[in-house]
Amino acid sequence: AATKQYQFDIQVKNISRLCHAKPIVTVNGRFPGPTIYVREGDRVLVNVSNHAQYNMSIHWHGLKQFRNGWADGPAYITQCPIQTGSSYVYDFNVTGQRGTLWWHAHILWLRATVYGAMVIMPKQGTPFPFPQPHREEIILLGEWWHGDVETIEKEGINLGLPPNMSDAHTINGKPGPLFPCYEKHTFAMEVEQGKTYLLRIINGALNDELFFAIANHNMTVVEIDAVYTKPFTTQALLIAPGQTTNVLVKANQMPGRYFMAARPFIDIPFPEDNKTATGILQYKGIPNTVFPTLPTLPAPNNSAFAFAYNKKLRSLNSQKYPANVPRKVDRNLFFAVGLGKNPCPTCVNGTQITASLNNISFVMPKIGLLQAHYSNVKGVFRTDFPDKPPIVFNYTGAPLTANLGTTQGTRLSKIAFNSTVELVLQDTNLLTVESHPFHLHGYNFFVVGTGIGNFDPAKDPAKYNLVDPPERNTVGVPTGGWTAIRFQANNPGVWFLHCHLELHTGWGLKTAFVVEDGPGSDQTILPPPKDLPPC
Ligand code: C2O
Repeated sequence: AATKQYQFDIQVKNISRLCHAKPIVTVNGRFPGPTIYVREGDRVLVNVSNHAQYNMSIHWHGLKQFRNGWADGPAYITQCPIQTGSSYVYDFNVTGQRGTLWWHAHILWLRATVYGAMVIMPKQGTPFPFPQPHREEIILLGEWWHGDVETIEKEGINLGLPPNMSDAHTINGKPGPLFPCYEKHTFAMEVEQGKTYLLRIINGALNDELFFAIANHNMTVVEIDAVYTKPFTTQALLIAPGQTTNVLVKANQMPGRYFMAARPFIDIPFPEDNKTATGILQYKGIPNTVFPTLPTLPAPNNSAFAFAYNKKLRSLNSQKYPANVPRKVDRNLFFAVGLGKNPCPTCVNGTQITASLNNISFVMPKIGLLQAHYSNVKGVFRTDFPDKPPIVFNYTGAPLTANLGTTQGTRLSKIAFNSTVELVLQDTNLLTVESHPFHLHGYNFFVVGTGIGNFDPAKDPAKYNLVDPPERNTVGVPTGGWTAIRFQANNPGVWFLHCHLELHTGWGLKTAFVVEDGPGSDQTILPPPKDLPPC
């Protein structure tokens, strides 16, 4: 194992897209940010020096950070932000994980431009459990706004206005030929006839789940969220913000130019967003003058495709990579996911859209929850987050028009060390039904079941997959349906749980688990680093 060091200078840079230049926050002046290449077993030190006018924090999305929440990154959850002019070294080990993950700013909406890939190579001499690709390529999907992202965030969150949609989707920061001034901003990868390529696809978009496809080429899914899967072949895939998907693509078509394309999956009637980012798969020797073929993507509102696609995902569950699915459950949690409306005197319409879990909109604390927990600071948070919704109702029936108000609080669930947790996330139709990609920090979990309609505790658990369910860190709760996840709480700390649609997070769709220390000396939270940013 090696120690890998990176320097991340947070700096503002003028970047031009769609024929306009604007200042954006970057890492090292690059957009998207640099890729981190590490190997399973490495220690990683990333010195983040903040030269921008915004406070900063960086999250290593999907890294488990065993006992080491200090390096996890979400602002006010595991650390106070890195102030302008200060720096902080994220110091962590990459243990028991290999595959594609990513990193992003975890404060305000700054991850719109502050994000990059993290590739964890398997241990030296350990091959992939699939044919060795000829070459690999990172496909980082994102969004681009003409305006200043922080202004747009404030409109969406503080004024209660529906937020501005992004002006483009991007592949490796580039919108591609369906947008103006694309000439310099089109991603292309060259392939050779007959060879197989590994694409490491990451959805770094702020607010959009995306369909992705390559014209005329099938993709074989081999890994999701840095966990190997049973390979299956598909023409299109679905990827939610936060998720990663590795696919093998064989260049087995007539030599030519083929578009790869990403377009949102939005199954609510608004906003209508069908902007398509494109990049090019270019066979060697084919001139740039040949116009590429577009792939067929599922219709933007095709929830049936989304549901069926997610159902196909299975852990590899081989001897070398077993799926250790918890069989018994110590703690049953049922969280109803809702969008509602609260009165808001300062808002344009007098109301503000909110989002809640079990009718609680999470209020961000003023100091980091992990420090408060570690040093026993009272009054920062409560650990009385309810295990069940306050009322039982027909969650996915007709929309409720009255009583959309939520309660507010910094309320967390306390989880006993090493207990097995089952969490059912139930979508609701308070305002509308919608798909929500939920991300848990500090853990992977098994997606043991999912269904449309209301979860039935008497019938649905009998249908769980406890053999080879997908293991991941971000899961879509289907539109008008539910998802059940299980994990073993063996990582002490304070771990954020939130919808990875940034708009919903901002509206309060988040909470955290306080996982208590275990009895062993190697089962406790590590002491905080000396340079942990002060509040
Ligand atoms: Cu990718 Cu809490 O985030």
